[in-house]
Amino acid sequence: MLYRTMVETDLDEILTCLTEPSVNTTTPERFVAYLRDGGYRREWTWLAFDGDTPAGLAVWWGFPDGERPLALDCLWAAPAVTDPVPMWAALIRQVPPPVEYHLFTLPAHRDDPEIAVRLAAAAEAGLTTVTERFRYEWTSARPRPRRSARLTFAPASDEAFVDAFEQISAGSLDVATRAGVARIGARAQAVEDVEDYKSMRGPRDWWRLAYDRAGALVGCALPSANDGGPVVGYVGVLPSHRGHGYADDLLAEITWILAVTGATTIRADTDSTNAPMVASFERLGYERFALRVVAS
Ligand SMILES: CC(C)(COP(=O)(O)OP(=O)(O)OC[C@H]1O[C@@H](n2cnc3c(N)ncnc32)[C@H](O)[C@@H]1OP(=O)(O)O)[C@@H](O)C(=O)NCCC(=O)NCCS
Repeated sequence: MLYRTMVETDLDEILTCLTEPSVNTTTPERFVAYLRDGGYRREWTWLAFDGDTPAGLAVWWGFPDGERPLALDCLWAAPAVTDPVPMWAALIRQVPPPVEYHLFTLPAHRDDPEIAVRLAAAAEAGLTTVTERFRYEWTSARPRPRRSARLTFAPASDEAFVDAFEQISAGSLDVATRAGVARIGARAQAVEDVEDYKSMRGPRDWWRLAYDRAGALVGCALPSANDGGPVVGYVGVLPSHRGHGYADDLLAEITWILAVTGATTIRADTDSTNAPMVASFERLGYERFALRVVAS
């Protein structure tokens, strides 16, 4: 098997592979659009060849202004490949870690073979930690949540957000945050997170720090957007203020900011194990509509 990145003349063949129905999020339309805006790149799209025939494909996503791919969006194998696991694992290993593989599905289809075989390949390539993220959606058919009467919200500098993120990471139940802190430390993780959120489509000037009546910093609220539309970027409460239901105040502010700018749907994800955040989404009228399985 030969592995190489895409060249321009591979495009038609790749689009044909992507028309096959599968759990992959990459469709032919998305591939062309993202290739244009830089979320997908030829040098981030890996092919496996058996002779002259394409046997496998891996499509990676990264921020359009980023320097490296971050997440695998698609694994495809030709029907002739009886066991795609070794080939897919080899394709995944072409991209240096840390990377993630995100699979989107419905809770009822969590154990489908199509997902299991992809997770097996990811595990063989070193992506052995599998987490489940609940996907939530708020729509403007619901009343806008009431804004907090006990917190005030203000914009702040990147430095202030890095400080807040660093403090919030202590005792976080978020799997990616915990892994990042273990890998590079709380400060570096906070710097990286702020940079990543700045790369998202939502305007930076929507971000807010939240203060209580005594003027103490309580947490942060980051409304944002990705390619699919408006999203809850980040909600965080400082450890010393946890347990007072402030998560709801912050989520209400994010929802409100996005709703007044015209959002009719707002999407959000949280780890299934992040119980306080799951409860907060459900109290605020967000509906769980899907599951994101993440191998990292
Ligand atoms: C998730 C988070 C925002 C919850 O904030 P909060 O305002 O404390 O939430 P609530 O007050 O509704 O908490 C409900 C319960 O969970 C507990 N809880 C909250 N955060 C907790 C944590 N990190 N670890 C353990 N328990 C926690 C609270 O003490 C409270 O317990 P109680 O019912 O016994 O009093 C906060 O933990 C946080 O900032 N975590 C790190 C960042 C994060 O995970 N953000 C979400 C990413 S999508």
